[in-house]
Amino acid sequence: MKKQTIIVTGASSGIGKEIAKYFLEKGDNVVINSSTIGKLEETYKELGAGPNLALVAGSISDKATGERLVATAIEKFGSADVLINNAGIFETKPFLEVDEAYLDRFLTTNLKGTYFTTQAVIPQMLKQQQGVVINIGTPMVNQGFGGIPATAPIASKGAIHALTIQLAAEFGKRNIRVNTVAPGVIRTPMHGSDADKSAGQHLLNRVGDANDIAEMVYTVAKSNFITGTIFNVDGGMAAGFNLN
Ligand SMILES: NC(=O)c1ccc[n+]([C@@H]2O[C@H](COP(=O)([O-])OP(=O)(O)OC[C@H]3O[C@@H](n4cnc5c(N)ncnc54)[C@H](OP(=O)(O)O)[C@@H]3O)[C@@H](O)[C@H]2O)c1
Repeated sequence: MKKQTIIVTGASSGIGKEIAKYFLEKGDNVVINSSTIGKLEETYKELGAGPNLALVAGSISDKATGERLVATAIEKFGSADVLINNAGIFETKPFLEVDEAYLDRFLTTNLKGTYFTTQAVIPQMLKQQQGVVINIGTPMVNQGFGGIPATAPIASKGAIHALTIQLAAEFGKRNIRVNTVAPGVIRTPMHGSDADKSAGQHLLNRVGDANDIAEMVYTVAKSNFITGTIFNVDGGMAAGFNLN
């Protein structure tokens, strides 16, 4: 398979780190990003600090970070073939306690981060006459859970699902594919030691691992006839749950 250049945001932890590792192991070039430079440098070393790996620190909510990601991909590897908009934040707060500053944090990081990073990369994909964007969403945009007060992050992720379909429509004729992978609860630092408490939210009655998501992201990245689709990799969360 042709060697490609993959940009992964939020790659210093959890799902993003595993995605970066997966593509590196398959032989692609990878540019990793996160906002905390120290964590990102640790990850760079952990992933082998090899010639196929580059890093760009900075918040995705700043479009300049996306532009630096593309510039680095081109300078080091000659192309920017796949963008994985993985960086994201999730917290809970009851709806009536959410103020504008709190809501803005989720819209700024999750939605605007995905939006502007994609806007920074697509001009290069247009030049290349090919490209792939994969967003990370959540089945919780279609499956509500009382007891998980998450209107702010879920609203931002719902917008990412909608953005996926509209971008796929606007750039399909230009050979740019846009899809979302929507994970169930995945055991990552985002959940601390609490992830397994969410087992019952899945028909499989267990939570997933970051590798489950990396496998699907890789498949979607390399499958040339897939666009405009939301892929649930969620242990059956979108279909139902277990009353334990
Ligand atoms: N884990 C789950 O159960 C689950 C389920 C559904 C969807 N997701 C989604 O999957 C993605 C990854 O989640 P995860 O569980 O792997 O989380 P995680 O372990 O907390 O990792 C999040 C990553 O995003 C980075 N990040 C946060 N804000 C950023 C910003 N403004 N700019 C650049 N990087 C930023 C973090 O690094 P810094 O702190 O250094 O910036 C970190 O590398 C998120 O979009 C999340 O919403 C996760």
